[in-house]
Amino acid sequence: MKYQSHQIAHNFYTASVLLFLVQIIVGIVAALQFIWPDFFILNFNTIRTLHINALVVWLLMGMMGATYYVVTEESETELWSIPLGHLQFWATVIAVTAVVVGYIVMGLNPQTNMEVFGTRLLNEGREYIEAPRWADILIVVSVLLFLFNCIMTVFKTKKFTAVQGVLLGGLTFLALMYLPGMFYTKSMVKDQFWWWWVVHLWVEGSWELIAAALLAFMLHKLLGADVKVLAKWMYIETGLVLFTGILGLGHHYYWIGTPKYWLWVGGIFSSLEPIPLLLMVWDAFRTTRETRGVVQNKIGLYLTVAHAIFNFVGAGLWGVIHTLPQVNQWTHGTQITTAHGHLAFYGAYVLLIVAMMYVTLPSIKGVKDFNQSRGFLSFWWMTISMIFIVITITGAGMVQTYLERLLGLDYVTVKASYNLWFWIFRAIFGVGFLVGVLILVTDILTLGKKSVAVE
Ligand code: HEM
Ligand code: HEM
Ligand SMILES: [Fe+2]
Repeated sequence: MKYQSHQIAHNFYTASVLLFLVQIIVGIVAALQFIWPDFFILNFNTIRTLHINALVVWLLMGMMGATYYVVTEESETELWSIPLGHLQFWATVIAVTAVVVGYIVMGLNPQTNMEVFGTRLLNEGREYIEAPRWADILIVVSVLLFLFNCIMTVFKTKKFTAVQGVLLGGLTFLALMYLPGMFYTKSMVKDQFWWWWVVHLWVEGSWELIAAALLAFMLHKLLGADVKVLAKWMYIETGLVLFTGILGLGHHYYWIGTPKYWLWVGGIFSSLEPIPLLLMVWDAFRTTRETRGVVQNKIGLYLTVAHAIFNFVGAGLWGVIHTLPQVNQWTHGTQITTAHGHLAFYGAYVLLIVAMMYVTLPSIKGVKDFNQSRGFLSFWWMTISMIFIVITITGAGMVQTYLERLLGLDYVTVKASYNLWFWIFRAIFGVGFLVGVLILVTDILTLGKKSVAVE
């Protein structure tokens, strides 16, 4: 290990993949509950909350680990404070565990989610960011400590790089965008208005900036590509992400009681959102083609390119198909949305974090060669299963839209009878996905154990 600080990145990766495993196990429980609603002691609400919160949190922890790595490597120094980094790691683990226990307690006994100082004790009820207020405060403190430590590290040696700039800029934007999720208003319209700032401006704003920065970092580290060219592309991508994504927010304001002009604003700007994502695919291919050297870390490069492609397909294509108000008025809130949610998160962020793990773990563990076959095996199990999950629920969504929205059949009839086979297939492919995750977790935890050490 070149830097002691990389132990912190390593700890974050470990916690991250373990939480990924939890996310998928509860995802399968949720899928089974579509078939047998009474399956399992915790009901669907609780299981769904656990599934999507675990997703968000493990991706954030993966980003933190990746950032601790990138900042130290690019500034060529240890973290400003290693103990602070360890403290921030353990504080995060403890807070996350407490929140999860809270959800489970509430799932078993809903009365426990009582009101304390005008907020709820265990669950605040805003999808994806259900964590209660005390946890929000802990999360904000933890993120501030993390950012402070990283920024001070860059100042220590004054080695500023373009990648660090965009990465830390994206993370600061991410931290700021957590705050709109903490307003209380008596109006459901206003509540939804602010809540979308967090959810949309995260995944289609700040997180995409982080993705653009990490893409440049990985292409440089794997291929030794020219930093100046990579930086130029990264700036164009980030500029376009912000230009299209900020007002693209309007695609969530069509039917929630906001003024009519959002139909135009949202429709036009969000339709442009796939453009920067397509540029990232081009960027990855062009760089790979131009720097045709021998790549040692094949799995790292493979995952980087796969991330760029599936970011475009899941977020860009599966997003744009239902983003115009003329289409969204029929598909809003159906399984079409769920299909997009899965492929977008998988392509844009799951593959991004997994790629970063494979790109940086060899140097963290000080190994040159490692057995890459398990990485490929896990990638294919996960990706093929995910493609089938998405095909199945896109099918379910089409049936649902037609029967419910056009023919006027009721929700439960469609869900319980017409869509049953789609749920059965989703559960089966879900198990396939779990196989891929089990291989991944084993590989990440044991990577390089049997190979030649170089440092
Ligand atoms: C990586 C980026 C993205 C991620 C992770 C993502 C994820 C999601 C998720 C999880 C939802 C469901 C939210 C909910 O109601 O619970 C959603 C909704 C939506 N997304 Fe995305 N998305 C991304 C990018 C995009 C892009 C680029 C577009 C358009 C081109 C788009 C269009 C939409 C639309 C229109 C909805 C609302 C669907 C409805 O009305 O039910 N998304 N997205
Ligand atoms: C990395 C892989 C996965 C990601 C990124 C992911 C992401 C998500 C997201 C964002 C949602 C909320 C979607 C929405 O409200 O539209 C969701 C819901 C759900 N997920 Fe996953 N998920 C993954 C894997 C799985 C697996 C393997 C299963 C099991 C088959 C599963 C089953 C479900 C179910 C049943 C729901 C609830 C759908 C609904 O409310 O209609 N997920 N997942
Ligand atoms: Fe959005």
